[in-house]
Amino acid sequence: MNSRKGELTLSKVKIQFNGNPKAPLAGADVSLLSRENAEKVRAFHRTIDAYEPTPLARLQHLAQDFGLGEVLVKDESYRFGLNAFKVLGGSYAVAEILAHKLGKDISEVSCEYLRSQEARNAVGDLTFASTTDGNHGRGLAWAAEQFNQKAIIYMPKGSDPVRRDNIRAHGAECTISDLNYDDCVRMAWEKAQQNGWITVQDTAWKGYEEIPNYIMQGYTTLALEALEQMQAMGVDRPTHVLLQAGVGCFAGSMLGFFMSVFGENAPTFIIVEPEAANCFYVSAVANDGTPHAVEGDLATLMAGLACGEPNLTSWEMLRDYPVAYASCQDSVAANGMRILGAPLPGDPQVVSGESGAATTGFLQWVMQQDEAEEARERLGLDASSKVLCISTEGDTSPRTYRDVVWFGRRNL
Ligand SMILES: Cc1ncc(COP(=O)(O)O)c(C=O)c1O
Repeated sequence: MNSRKGELTLSKVKIQFNGNPKAPLAGADVSLLSRENAEKVRAFHRTIDAYEPTPLARLQHLAQDFGLGEVLVKDESYRFGLNAFKVLGGSYAVAEILAHKLGKDISEVSCEYLRSQEARNAVGDLTFASTTDGNHGRGLAWAAEQFNQKAIIYMPKGSDPVRRDNIRAHGAECTISDLNYDDCVRMAWEKAQQNGWITVQDTAWKGYEEIPNYIMQGYTTLALEALEQMQAMGVDRPTHVLLQAGVGCFAGSMLGFFMSVFGENAPTFIIVEPEAANCFYVSAVANDGTPHAVEGDLATLMAGLACGEPNLTSWEMLRDYPVAYASCQDSVAANGMRILGAPLPGDPQVVSGESGAATTGFLQWVMQQDEAEEARERLGLDASSKVLCISTEGDTSPRTYRDVVWFGRRNL
């Protein structure tokens, strides 16, 4: 084991401890993700016919096996029948955009109203554009379809055609480009600027923050549900929240919510990334207060996490508050898929895709590898820990899911 400057380099995982952690609420502002805002977001989501809270799986036997108090896994494969959490962000952002155009507050509009001829006539023809690894684009296409508007979606090279077809099934135009994710985002932005389309991108950069912030707020519905569900099970608060990050919009959203709710008693946050796209890990290693990008093909099994540039709004939260950043080989996520897909007797099954299972895979690794002993001690993971993981997607690439779960595939 190589331990220097807070870095643990182990066989399948590298962990960087935060070199400059801030006490809860003493660093970046998290008020955007407050419980009050989350209640407002959920009130809108509740007006959508397909809305139903997704299950929170309580894996008691797994927790025992891992030597933990609780392992709770929020199962986003059930979200709106779309197999991933992402639609929460796209639908909320589009609703906010429409509400603004109508001169109304989000609390004054319902999904039904935004779908109505009256609202449609008032806002006119709109085109929403975005880049996606699959899940965000599917959610945005779904939202555009709901509100009788158009969506144009681009995907990075190597994207699974099944994911493209799922987007097209909602009436959107969707093409797989020959660019990596971050270059594809830039290309889509330029096209949108040239054509007067509205970019609904799940990452922020300087000058483009409002819509990504709505997307982050949109995700808080799931955090609010998880909080209520765990409290109904008698778990007052999680001690640890493991969050997978691509651009970090999702992780920032969850972190901001739980920190707003629990303040000084906020849980320990751990960020989990694929080794090939570990921009938060690399930024934590540099520890100079600025985000660092990862370039190249970003080739990882965890397609949803294959993003090389941190989202600027969540960057500050993800710089200040997590205790550690784990950079994981693909096989870690593959193990997570198998563990959730073939549960211990008595535990519920969670069908979890590559990006969804990354955190459970990491949890297994850190709890059960001999070489991870120092890591678990420093992370404070023990029999009193109540760990929340979020399985952010189901088998969004069914072929990959079967290759991993049935045939033991371990990497791209
Ligand atoms: C299934 C899944 N999980 C997690 C993420 C990570 O979200 P973010 O890019 O906001 O970090 C994504 C992003 O597309 C995803 O599709």
